[in-house]
Amino acid sequence: MATTNTETTPIQIFDTTLRDGEQSPGAAMSHEEKMQIAELLDEMGVDIIEAGFPISSPGDFRAVQEISKIVKRASVCGLSRAGFKDIDRAGEALKGAFRPRIHTFISTSPVHMKHKLNMGENAVLEAIGASVVRARNFTSEVEWSAEDATRTVPDFLCRCVDVAIQSGATVINVPDTVGYSTPQEYFEIIKMLRERVPNADKVIFSTHVHNDLGLAVANSLAGVLAGARQVECTINGIGERAGNAALEEIVMALKVRKDIMPFHTGINTTMLNRASKLVSNVTGFPVQYNKAIVGKNAFSHESGIHQDGMLKNVETYEIMRPEDVGVHATSLMLGKLSGRHAFKDKLESMGYVLEAEAFEDAFKRFKDLADKKKHVFDEDIAALVDDEIIRGHDSISIKALRVESGTGITPVASLTLDAAGTVKSVTVSGDGPVDAIFMAIREAYPHTATLQLFQISAVTEGTDAQAQVSVRLEENGRTVTGKASDTDTMVAAAYAYVNALNKLLVKREKREPEPMSGAKEAVAK
Ligand code: KIV
Ligand code: ZN
Repeated sequence: MATTNTETTPIQIFDTTLRDGEQSPGAAMSHEEKMQIAELLDEMGVDIIEAGFPISSPGDFRAVQEISKIVKRASVCGLSRAGFKDIDRAGEALKGAFRPRIHTFISTSPVHMKHKLNMGENAVLEAIGASVVRARNFTSEVEWSAEDATRTVPDFLCRCVDVAIQSGATVINVPDTVGYSTPQEYFEIIKMLRERVPNADKVIFSTHVHNDLGLAVANSLAGVLAGARQVECTINGIGERAGNAALEEIVMALKVRKDIMPFHTGINTTMLNRASKLVSNVTGFPVQYNKAIVGKNAFSHESGIHQDGMLKNVETYEIMRPEDVGVHATSLMLGKLSGRHAFKDKLESMGYVLEAEAFEDAFKRFKDLADKKKHVFDEDIAALVDDEIIRGHDSISIKALRVESGTGITPVASLTLDAAGTVKSVTVSGDGPVDAIFMAIREAYPHTATLQLFQISAVTEGTDAQAQVSVRLEENGRTVTGKASDTDTMVAAAYAYVNALNKLLVKREKREPEPMSGAKEAVAK
């Protein structure tokens, strides 16, 4: 039976793609990419955007500060540990937000308290009270998290939450930090807190579940059924280790199964596919083909029996319509005679709004592409524009590239590279054309990163399809993935490598904050 939003309970969507998601090994986002994602999340209807961990790096501080200024409707949130320096830095970064939120956390499980914090129960309780009070000096929206809540002794968890509420927390987050819980168990934890902690009805309970056992979405929904009214999640489920609960899966599960879960979110679900593509492009993490909601095969029917059923009635094998999540049948589109106006209309219909300069660059690239490629599909346009967004602010860029290869000759790459204004040209030979290109980049811009992965896929079908190349680099334990597409595979490879190098620059700047140990540091004044 269909229900309307007035009969269902609202669930707040707290997106942490830019914070927990960016902590994914290999993911690094430039400042501009973060702004782009934040804008899209805001437009899509996310209620809270966790924009970063301000004390962790100048880059995170700046991201939270600038995102606070551009976000129009969502709360903007900054993460902090329990120490006052962390909290003050978050408060400072959030100054420009019209709905600032400080999210402060401390570990509460025995294993974390003993080995990570070296703190006893009383010291942790004291730190919770002090941190929440400190955060309330900056904003009325204070979220408190019990890190490793699902492995915390239940009585102690109740005492911690009690102190957080008494000290002024408005949202209580219950992280399954290590992805250890199960739906039934997680349900019981949320239920217990709501039943046992005084004034639990005055705050919002929140889920934050990692996916180590593949249960993140199931656990989050169990939390909602137990009374949580905020869900923390990320686009494509990216995040530490196996990731976080996937936003698109939670939102669509609540939408499709309203009959047994009477809740709604404010998300414009037709933007989910676009958000997924943007995050995949920015991080360089491909979306697995069979991924729920946004995977390439999520709405494809291969078996004859299924296809036959679909032709008779789509409801035979489809529980939601592709259009509901922003997937549209591939349409043949603009050609080389199409002008600016048609290109702009097309971009808008695909949800892209580019500033004047970025639009002109994208249009030029579209014209170049249309010259080379007979049919330009929506996927080509998306790859081209996402490339434009990603590469638009890179400080290392390719000015010229020429590659020679073939039978009986030594492959040679001639490259001109601009690294923050220093232009260098080199000519280098290699075992193959890709090797020559990568060695040329290394010569023009010396670095110690090693190549971990080189992968090519086609954006569309046909021999004139654009090649999409992913390059993963590793340097001192940091990994990054660069991506680029072009009709020329060698050009795409070069751009992807340089894109990875640019990400490495971002990652180099980001250092882990000093580990916090001891009660003194936790409440350090
Ligand atoms: O997983 C976790 O415990 C976290 C907290 C900082 C909320 O990300
Ligand atoms: Zn987390």
